[in-house]
Amino acid sequence: MEELLRAFFQALVKNQSANRWAQRYGHKLGAQRFVAGEQITDAIRVVRELNMRHMTATLDHLGEFVADEKEARKAADDCLQALEAIHQHQVKSTLSLKMTQLGLDISRELCMENMRKILDKALLYGIVVNIDMEDSARCQVTLDIFEELLSEYPNVMTVLQAYLYRSMDDLLRLASKGASLRIVKGAYKEPESVAYPEKADVDANYIKMVEAHLLSPGLTAIATHDEAIIEHCKSFIERHQISKDKYEFQMLYGIRVNLQQQLSDEGHPLRIYVPYGDDWYGYFMRRLAERPANVGFVLKGMFR
Ligand code: FDA
Repeated sequence: MEELLRAFFQALVKNQSANRWAQRYGHKLGAQRFVAGEQITDAIRVVRELNMRHMTATLDHLGEFVADEKEARKAADDCLQALEAIHQHQVKSTLSLKMTQLGLDISRELCMENMRKILDKALLYGIVVNIDMEDSARCQVTLDIFEELLSEYPNVMTVLQAYLYRSMDDLLRLASKGASLRIVKGAYKEPESVAYPEKADVDANYIKMVEAHLLSPGLTAIATHDEAIIEHCKSFIERHQISKDKYEFQMLYGIRVNLQQQLSDEGHPLRIYVPYGDDWYGYFMRRLAERPANVGFVLKGMFR
């Protein structure tokens, strides 16, 4: 049953009619549990609260799979606005973005133009920009663009997904270039031809990748809510005396909040991924697919 629900929500991620329906009728369906709000002011308020609790943040203006040039340029402007707000309010936050939001599916040139605008401003303000990793069809082009930008900008990092067979090779190549990386399990529906179908294999690869990267020069962002993996990483960090400027834990806004507080209280660097904006549908469906038990929150939200 859980597998069925997972497949159902993963299929809904790219369903345009369901997306339009959700936008049009404004049914938040419980999304506010995972999304900071629709405006940048809502997001900054959340970041400030996190900073007061000794957690940093990464802001994500929601949106993906843009097929229209005007929309892609608007998404770039939203990223610039987020950078301005982080700078103006002096909050501790990086920026996360998706390249399909900035026109990757329209043309590589348009995406690069938008990326450079964003990275120029971020560099000026000393803010790191993290390129999220999307589905496997876009992995190679995302890494090609990342490697090109890494040679020009010290403030760019990206994400590798432990469910992909290819990721350890990508990690070793990028680590040798000093890249900072966020390591995640992976949130998209992928075929067995490219991704481990069994969770145990994904978890094992996740640990191998984190350990390999912790011993290389770049920053390792350990982005997971998996308590067993977190405990394992904490021991590894202690055993190898990895300094606090070389790693951080990362978690999503609204997920395992107690665990977030515990890690922060223990003195580990912790960054919270804070999504905001009105295009919350795809992001929300992926959170439901990760944990169909979250449907309970949705149903409560609908009948509230
Ligand atoms: P796992 O799925 O095994 O969950 C471990 C435990 O965490 C669960 O038992 C449950 O307690 C809790 N949990 C996990 N998901 C939950 C949910 N939705 N609701 C409630 N509880 C939940 N993916 C990607 O493909 N590209 C990307 O760029 C990113 N970026 C990213 C940034 C950050 C900061 C994080 C934390 C995650 C991502 N991800 C991502 C998502 C990632 O790939 C993965 O889907 C989720 O983190 C869930 O996997 P876990 O590692 O938490 O483990």
